[in-house]
Amino acid sequence: MANDTAQNDVFLRDLWYFGIVGDEVKPGQMVQKERLGELILFGRTHEGEAFAMTDICPHRAILLSGGEMVKGETGTEVQCPYHGWRFRPDGQCAFIPSLTADQTEAMDISKIKAKTYRVHESYGIVWIWFGYDHDAEPCLPPPTLDIPRDSKVRMYEECDFHCDMDAAVISLMDPAHIPYIHNQSWWRTPKTMHEKQKTFGPIDRGFSMLPHKPSSNSFIYKLFGKDITTEIQLELPGLRPEYMKAGDKHVTTVTIVTPVSANKTIISIILYWNHAAVSLVPKWLIRRAIHVFMKQDSTAVDSQAIGLSYDPPQMFIHDSDIPAKWYLALRRNWEKHRKEGADFVNPLKENKTLRWRS
Ligand code: FES
Ligand SMILES: [Fe+2]
Repeated sequence: MANDTAQNDVFLRDLWYFGIVGDEVKPGQMVQKERLGELILFGRTHEGEAFAMTDICPHRAILLSGGEMVKGETGTEVQCPYHGWRFRPDGQCAFIPSLTADQTEAMDISKIKAKTYRVHESYGIVWIWFGYDHDAEPCLPPPTLDIPRDSKVRMYEECDFHCDMDAAVISLMDPAHIPYIHNQSWWRTPKTMHEKQKTFGPIDRGFSMLPHKPSSNSFIYKLFGKDITTEIQLELPGLRPEYMKAGDKHVTTVTIVTPVSANKTIISIILYWNHAAVSLVPKWLIRRAIHVFMKQDSTAVDSQAIGLSYDPPQMFIHDSDIPAKWYLALRRNWEKHRKEGADFVNPLKENKTLRWRS
């Protein structure tokens, strides 16, 4: 789905999005991903620098990801598989093999450019900037997590949701579905439902379920001892870090919602920890648990997407649907702020306690 213009699209912009996990491309490698309806080639130069450019060759549109990365005269160059044109990581054309020397000079091939994207690598993630004006400098610094910037990704899993970005984000902030969709007996069931009360506070472009003792009915948390606190944040566009901390030990689960296209969204789950007890848990077990949860959510939102395609009204009730309303307001307000210059308003002005049963 070609989409070079940001004007009429459904995606929120002027934000950093998840690109890839850095480990997906070693030096001299590249990989194709679709993000916000654009086909993007993420690569890493032989020197180790991450970059992103369009995967569509400016010559005649074959996918550059079918080509190779070579060490050319200018350094790392992406070589198109069709006619061998080469592009530098900054998009500039470096070589057109079919041209004779005098033709190369006459043509000034450096004027030929592949579209490139700004990227930033931190926390083992390559973030990619999508702006309303593609050429403008980012108006925000790259995302910040409450862990060291050079933290190593311990585990990465992803899942496709066949729904739009909003339905995916809302599903992650929705406490009332947990006993129904995630009703495995070792976790939670409608029978273990009880009243909860959580305090939320505003953060930049989002909100936080402020640090609290985790629910007594979630036995996984018990692994970490009595002093454990957990905090879950949500920040635009779809960054949802969950920090479990006990003393100086942490287990951080960063869930990121990224639109692939208008009707497809990926959920990335990235785990970091420095807690020795977690390293003892077999990775396949953690992976399996993540897959069980993600499959349950994807089955729910895929089914919901069918319902939503008939354009029904939706209801948001107190208090369990309030985080969904905050997200929708954040989204609206960000768009207004960036497109119309209005002040950005966080719908959550001060700490607020919500109550529900789950
Ligand atoms: S299509 Fe890429 S070099 Fe011709
Ligand atoms: Fe869920």
